[in-house]
Formats: sequence, structure tokens, C-alpha cells
Amino acid sequence: MKGVILAGGKGTRLYPLTRVTNKHLLPVYDKPIIYYSIEKLVSAGIDRIMIVTAPEHLDNYVQLLGSGENFISPDTNKQIQIVYGIQNEASGIAYGLYIAREYVGHDNCVLYLGDNIIEDNLTEHIRNFRHGATVFLKKVPDPERFGVATIDKNNSVKEIIEKPKNPKSDLAVVGVYLYDNTVFEKMVGQPASKRGEKEITYINNKYIKEGGLHAVTLEKEWFDIGTFDSLAAATNFMMDKFKNEKK
Ligand code: G1P
Repeated sequence: MKGVILAGGKGTRLYPLTRVTNKHLLPVYDKPIIYYSIEKLVSAGIDRIMIVTAPEHLDNYVQLLGSGENFISPDTNKQIQIVYGIQNEASGIAYGLYIAREYVGHDNCVLYLGDNIIEDNLTEHIRNFRHGATVFLKKVPDPERFGVATIDKNNSVKEIIEKPKNPKSDLAVVGVYLYDNTVFEKMVGQPASKRGEKEITYINNKYIKEGGLHAVTLEKEWFDIGTFDSLAAATNFMMDKFKNEKK
């Protein structure tokens, strides 16, 4: 399984922090945000990762991450491989993944939005994944900010609605997705949404229609870093965690 981490976007809600750097390079306590997603994937056994970013930030990523020499695979005891994909326009998450289609080749992939930090362990889900799609859900107080899952009596996901005004549940779709190789054919003819983006929610709903979407509810912390408050909350959380681990 290959990893694809999306690290583009202008991060305008974090201006002036993101005027001269990319959001995913900002610090959360003792490391850049992007480290959390790479470390999560590497600990789950992923050793080939494409980072998709905007051309103006590519140099920074290459300086920071190189070819992956600072990350060691627990399976092979060797450095992982990091390569780069360039997204010229911010045209949505599905489009960001599409850039990685040749890198993914005939493999399955885990798509990770680089501004998400999750505390749950993904190892078993990633290692046991075979086909269809797996999404991760998290109960939140403000579901209208996210993709929201509608659940039926049997706890299966019936539909995902992107940023609904009147959410039918409090289960947000987290920015980590496991896909089989049919994900790329599901993008053919995909229309742009009202906000002008190729939404990942459209792709997930295609898997639901096929009966191929599996959902896992996360129990631990999840941060989606897009605002000053979420950046500060993640930093405080990691500082406390670090100090507790030292005790
Ligand atoms: C995106 C997805 C949304 C998901 C969220 C998680 O939202 O479209 O479904 O819940 O990431 O971080 P965006 O960050 O594009 O607003």
C-alpha cells in the first residue's frame, strides 16, 4: 500500500503565519505538522509516500524531508522513500490524489490530509485492508465544518454530506482514507462542487453505492489544523503528552 499525503493549499485562515510558508510546515510543539502524518503512516508499515504540494513550497519540503532519510521503516529497518507530486491548482482533495495515480500504480493507497493529526493507531486497519474503501469517523460538536456520515439502523454509512447546514449526525469524516485501486476510475467525469473542488466526499459516496465503504469510529484525539485555535489546541495536547511520557 502506498501513502499519499496532501500538503497544498494557501492556509489563508492562518495568515500571517502562512504568508511565506506552507501550513503543513508550521510547528505543532516540537515538529512540523507534516511529521505527524508521515510518522503515523510509517509506524503502520507504509514505506513509500508521495507528498503532493504546490510548486512554490516544493523546495521547502525537499529541504525538510529529502528522500525520506529521517524516517526508518519498522519492517525493513531502512529509510522510507519519499517522492513529490506537484499540484498546480488547489482544485480539491480528489484532484490532489489523482496527481499520485501513476505513483500508486496498481497498488492500494492511503490518502492522508497532511493537516490532520490523529492519535488512534491505524496499523491494523492499514495492514488488513484489501478492497473497497475505509473511512474513519469521529464524534464532534461542530459537524457542519466537515464531511458528515449519515448512519442507518445497522450502523452502516448510508451517505456522506459535505459540510451540511443541518447535519443528520455528529460523526465527522476524518481526513484519512484507505482506497483500493478503483478510486482512480471513480474520478472519471467527476463534477466540481459548488465551492469549485473535486470533493473526496463524491468518491466516498460512489464506494457507498457499490456497497464497498467500511467505516471505523476513532476513539482518541483528532485535530484538523486550519485555525489558530486548532493549531494551539494540538500544540498544547502534544506538549502535555510529551511531558507525561517523560514522567
Ligand atoms: C476535508 C473534506 C471533509 C473532511 C475534512 C477533514 O474538508 O472535504 O469531508 O471532513 O477534510 O479534515 P476541507 O479541509 O477541504 O474543508
